[in-house]
Amino acid sequence: MVLAFVGRSTCVAVIATLRNVTKKEQLEAAAGAALNRSLEIKQLDVCDERSIRSCINSIPNRHIDILVNNAGVGLIGPIECQSMEEMKAIMETNFFGVVRMIKEVLPDMKKRRSGHILVISSVMGLQGIMFNEIYAASKFAIEGFCESLVVQTLKFNIFISMIEPGPVETEFEMKVYEDAGKADYSQTDQETAEIFTNIYLKNSKAIFSSLGQRPEDIAEHILKVLSMARPPFRHQTNAIYTPMTALKHADPTGALMTDSFYKLVFKYDTLLHISLKAIRLIRWPAHKMRQGARLLGFR
Ligand SMILES: NC(=O)c1ccc[n+]([C@@H]2O[C@H](COP(=O)([O-])OP(=O)(O)OC[C@H]3O[C@@H](n4cnc5c(N)ncnc54)[C@H](OP(=O)(O)O)[C@@H]3O)[C@@H](O)[C@H]2O)c1
Repeated sequence: MVLAFVGRSTCVAVIATLRNVTKKEQLEAAAGAALNRSLEIKQLDVCDERSIRSCINSIPNRHIDILVNNAGVGLIGPIECQSMEEMKAIMETNFFGVVRMIKEVLPDMKKRRSGHILVISSVMGLQGIMFNEIYAASKFAIEGFCESLVVQTLKFNIFISMIEPGPVETEFEMKVYEDAGKADYSQTDQETAEIFTNIYLKNSKAIFSSLGQRPEDIAEHILKVLSMARPPFRHQTNAIYTPMTALKHADPTGALMTDSFYKLVFKYDTLLHISLKAIRLIRWPAHKMRQGARLLGFR
């Protein structure tokens, strides 16, 4: 889903888009009283230029102050088991989808010499993770694209911000595990298939349940970045991941990063699981307190 915030002279309007508008009920319910007042729902498929153009053309004067690129798809597993079509589909959405959106809104933002483009990237746009090769490549690609573009856009007073979450508990995670469950691993050797199912999937599920953030946490980070007078180019939402992404900068040969990951996955996996359990135990009371505060009406 892509959100475009459109400034009108007296109020702020949000255009929330879906590629498949038959799925809009949940969004309508979440919008509540804002629906069709300050929030409109429109159809937009980031893989279809005509649908993008028709959505943007339907906005008065094509005036978009803030564009949030959120649409994204995942793919996990051994690359030998993935077809080139599947891989290209990931790039089409996660990379070219964002490129299409930016290409469409940039000329108008440049004319007005103002705008803010947010891209929901990932920590995997900074650091590759085993069995996420294509997904990470798509996020690296969009990071490289935006890092190259931002210096030019700043000349036009247009900010670009990459939001880089770690794991987030959304349908995304469910969809990739579901696809992984149905995949045919006969195209790879038995050892690789076992590393994927017995090590990667097990670790990944433990990481999601210990370190995963809620979508609302990410929304708060987005709001924070949107409210800044000089928004940053990069914003990580999960502080636990900052040391991981810093490893490659600490050692330009890449040895520190590859050795650390190798040892964490293949040598010290027991330590990894104990640490994740400890984090889950520490986070649990904080999570319950937040839930309680929300029930009592506190933010
Ligand atoms: N969940 C995580 O752990 C995580 C971590 C880091 C970054 N991210 C990034 O966060 C973003 C949001 O993901 P999420 O976790 O909220 O997953 P999600 O619940 O699966 O949401 C992704 C959304 O993108 C939409 N989408 C997919 N292809 C599209 C297209 N061609 N045109 C328009 N919309 C399309 C999907 O629509 P349908 O419902 O029609 O499929 C879905 O609503 C993604 O960019 C993802 O890469 C997620």
